[in-house]
Amino acid sequence: MFRPAITGTGVFTPPNVITNAELVTAFNAYADRVNAENAPAIAAGEMEPMQHSSEEFIVKASGIENRYVMDKTGVLDPAVMHPLLRQRDDDEPGIMTEMAVDAAKRALEQAGKTAADVDAVICAASNLERAYPAVAIEIQQALGIEGFAFDMNVACSSATFGIQAAADMVRSGSIRSALVVNPEICSAHLEWRDRDCHFIFGDVATATLIERIEDAKGPHFEILSTRCATQFSNNIRNNNGFLRRSRPDGMKDRRDMQFMQNGRKVFKEVLPMVSQHIADHMAAEGVANTDLKRLWLHQANKTMNDFIGKKVLGREPEPGEQPNILQDYANTSSAGSIIAFSQNSDDLTEGDLGLICSFGAGYSVGSVIVRRHMS
Ligand code: COA
Repeated sequence: MFRPAITGTGVFTPPNVITNAELVTAFNAYADRVNAENAPAIAAGEMEPMQHSSEEFIVKASGIENRYVMDKTGVLDPAVMHPLLRQRDDDEPGIMTEMAVDAAKRALEQAGKTAADVDAVICAASNLERAYPAVAIEIQQALGIEGFAFDMNVACSSATFGIQAAADMVRSGSIRSALVVNPEICSAHLEWRDRDCHFIFGDVATATLIERIEDAKGPHFEILSTRCATQFSNNIRNNNGFLRRSRPDGMKDRRDMQFMQNGRKVFKEVLPMVSQHIADHMAAEGVANTDLKRLWLHQANKTMNDFIGKKVLGREPEPGEQPNILQDYANTSSAGSIIAFSQNSDDLTEGDLGLICSFGAGYSVGSVIVRRHMS
């Protein structure tokens, strides 16, 4: 058996920022427009008027202040309310490939490695831009990697499930190394016309290089243990899929073709599931909460993370101990915990223990216990 390690990480951050102020202005203009168009129905009591969104609510309910997106013109246009992405030719790289390749190159550079050192690519993301060929294979080709590649989707938990798959393959010896990439274009499945959720998501791509520990060229994180769990729930759901046109009304502008959630239920049900999952994983590995130097959590909601951090550590986390990036990036689905890890791990020193955890739709939860080594 070989010992797997994370030797490099990379984050691709899209060029466009949307602030809460911009978002709320666009949403409110859209709501006014819908209300004006439906004034007679509203006056007759046949339709409820759309209500305005508010910056104060967004920050208080989620902790989110900004989000990055691949296109902001469509999202902020009250006549459009979704991203506008150019049609790409089949012979040019897809948008997910473009994002993932940028993140992957950063991860390789940090590890001091090239495409020749990589045996496999796993594209683990909440949404895949087409059914086939696998996005991962396109990324593999764009990077010039030999070996194999495949896509996987476990919604917000995709990154940790991908790390487990890669770590297990490295551990068994079937590969020497794998790139796990998480290109998330959440803006395309978010319903920007629904004030309950229009603030939740942003776009980003992350990459993690997993290698045999003896191949590490610099500081790295040994993957001591991984644990994944799932439990079916409809409380976060998206019904879009290839059966769409075969169903009555399937091609209509239907609410369920975008992200839907029962936020309150998610909050109540996922928190205990995640807290217990982490506690059980740590107990099984003999890791006490006093041993843990850092917690890199999924980035969906600040209150949620505060709760989990306190439960896991048994006290209020010290500043920096459980870093949040959601105020800048919003919820970036599977990429969130990896952004937190990538941007807040350089200061750990030899022997320090940390835990990466992502969770979300499915329900699903994945955790990775890592140990820092300086060389
Ligand atoms: N602006 C102003 N008011 C808003 C609003 C907005 N954008 N969106 C909702 N409201 C209103 C609601 O209509 C509701 O009004 P009511 O009390 O009169 O019915 C009130 O604010 C509270 O709404 P609620 O949805 O109950 O808010 P919340 O405090 O539960 O926060 C979430 C909503 C989504 C942020 C929260 O439930 C959450 O974070 N859930 C888990 C999210 C998550 O992790 N999702 C998983 C994806 S991985």
